[in-house]
Amino acid sequence: MSSSQSVKITWLGHAAFAMEFGAHRILVDPWISENPTSPGLPDTFVPTKILVTHGHFDHLGDAIELSKTHQVPVYAPGETAIYCAGEGATASVMNIGGVLREEDFAFKIVTAIHSSSVGPERKYGGHPAGFLLNFGGFRVYHAGDTAYFDEMSLVIRKHDLDLALLPIGGTTTMDPTDAIDAVNLLKPTVVVPMHYNTWEFIAQNESEFARRVTAETDSRCQILVPGQPVSFN
Ligand code: NI
Ligand code: MN
Repeated sequence: MSSSQSVKITWLGHAAFAMEFGAHRILVDPWISENPTSPGLPDTFVPTKILVTHGHFDHLGDAIELSKTHQVPVYAPGETAIYCAGEGATASVMNIGGVLREEDFAFKIVTAIHSSSVGPERKYGGHPAGFLLNFGGFRVYHAGDTAYFDEMSLVIRKHDLDLALLPIGGTTTMDPTDAIDAVNLLKPTVVVPMHYNTWEFIAQNESEFARRVTAETDSRCQILVPGQPVSFN
């Protein structure tokens, strides 16, 4: 399925994405100010919701400060949301399987195979997650940090995926070979690789990944350039 109205997606480097649809301005995993690969968040982008997949610094990022500045809620797995609230953010506690529905936007918090700790004391961050987002019928899966797992098929069951944002860096998440398996399982119209080349230990060749998507799957790979928005519908 797709939407008649376009969804504008801007990669902000690593796992951070800004998504715009109608009145919605959704920020996912906004690690921006300390991310060496981030172009920064445009001043004109005022988030309406901040979604965080897990507590690790490269995903929680600027969520707390942005929440305070813009008075917008952070939606995150239980203990990570509670940590954010303790730091003064507006936080909305969710957990795996939880859904938030609005008229033309919805999202579900789904499982990821990873770990999660939060803050300088590395407190338990709750179960790491991904997000399944629905912008007026346009379905986006942000996998978070995850290994490949067969139950991804349950995560997206009954949902045709328009866009999958998948980590390919390896070492701490899927590598390109496992991400290809995920593409074949999820069958998104478009796959966008993320969570690579931020540091040497997750260095990957995204062009080679795109070549493999074309050769080994029925999906299309689109490599985003941080800071350059792309419209999808
Ligand atoms: Ni992580
Ligand atoms: Mn990460």
